[in-house]
Amino acid sequence: MAPMTRFAVEDPYQYLEGLGNYHSSEALQGAIPQVNNTPQKPPLGLYTERISGSAFTSPRDQYLQTFLYRSQSSMLHGDFVPLEIRSGYGPQTSAAPTQINPNSYFWPSFPVPDQAHWITGHALLGSNGDPVKKEGTAIWVFSVTEDMPARHIFSSLDGEMLIIPQSGALDIQTELGFLMVRQNEIAVIPRGVRFRITLPGGKPCRGFVCELFQGHFRLPDLGILGTTGLANLRDFQVSKAYFDGTIVDGVAKASDRDGEKWTIVSRLAGKPWHCIQTHTPFDVAGWHGTCYPYKFDLGRFCPLGNTLFDEHDPSLYTVLSARHHGAEPGTAVVDFVLVPPRWNVSEDTLWLPYYHRNTMQEFFSAIVSNQDPESPSNDTDKVANRFAPFGAGLHGAMSTHGASDGEMRVAREIDTSRPQKLQMDGVTAFVLETERPLALSEWAFICAQKNPQAKGRLAKM
Ligand SMILES: [Fe+2]
Repeated sequence: MAPMTRFAVEDPYQYLEGLGNYHSSEALQGAIPQVNNTPQKPPLGLYTERISGSAFTSPRDQYLQTFLYRSQSSMLHGDFVPLEIRSGYGPQTSAAPTQINPNSYFWPSFPVPDQAHWITGHALLGSNGDPVKKEGTAIWVFSVTEDMPARHIFSSLDGEMLIIPQSGALDIQTELGFLMVRQNEIAVIPRGVRFRITLPGGKPCRGFVCELFQGHFRLPDLGILGTTGLANLRDFQVSKAYFDGTIVDGVAKASDRDGEKWTIVSRLAGKPWHCIQTHTPFDVAGWHGTCYPYKFDLGRFCPLGNTLFDEHDPSLYTVLSARHHGAEPGTAVVDFVLVPPRWNVSEDTLWLPYYHRNTMQEFFSAIVSNQDPESPSNDTDKVANRFAPFGAGLHGAMSTHGASDGEMRVAREIDTSRPQKLQMDGVTAFVLETERPLALSEWAFICAQKNPQAKGRLAKM
């Protein structure tokens, strides 16, 4: 059986395959002009539009540029004005988080709003850097119970969005096509690409978003590991073009209805804005380039690890990395690291992370990887006392962390001469490892336990 997740939610879409490839996709045959990217008259009466995700002069193997061929230019919209968002998480504010101290934090179970959609169902957990300076990153918690309102779309102008559903699924319609993203999958939406999110079967979805202000998520270099392993290029799935309309008399006509208004919500400098346009944003009949939305099934991650003795660095589990160019070599703005089901085979080795302090900050949580609807991890109404259904932790600057007393007792008595498969009870842990300390929002700070592991142990002394 192929090592991939057997998802409970069907994916009705088809995809292009391969991350980093130069892709092209036509929803209407002949929509992409041959050779000339910007012909005087593009096919089917379309307009050429370009999304530049990187500098024009980026190295050839790193540039992110895509040409779109659409029936209306997205230039045609009203003025953007500030949008006040009130949700179950309270008003969203553009104020930068300020709570920063040397403690570890733990959130046994995040509060969840009764009713929210993609625009209203976010709470900023913390951030570092500054989106205006294109530095750093932000981590958001989301919990959504309903589709985005009709004819509403969203985009982040602050950065690329790594979307990590912890449970449930998201049906994401982007300007460049659809992605169905379910628990145990991740998606990346490039900066500025507009999208609309609905919920398959109307079921709630919650999880995390890592918004990258600087650079792009890329696969880590493998160095002496060679050419395969970890997240393989071929397993990334890229959206295919979708055109909301048809061809009439040789011209691509979007299915706009008279008087129909679309609301565009965009986040810039942490602040939501909105404007109106009178045509569908999903009118891209074809596109070609390297800047596109994609997704990845975490069940396809191929872990490499300890095979004789000792515990090696968790960088072995890096799925995506955003390098920090200009910093010390090897430094990342943020790494997305997985701790997946795997075999433990190291002899005379502590099969747990040893106690350590890290110059990087470690935000950690768990994704429900068990697709069985009867699994307790899939009971999204249940408030559990650990990661499932919806908790997380943060080890800040040089805060020592490691196993609990109980875990350590068990680990010290394990027969390490016999391999053991770790299935992790239907959840897969992940870490967002950030270079700079995360300053927490007031909301996140108030609902966090501070230094809980040490408190528990000190109380027994
Ligand atoms: Fe750690």
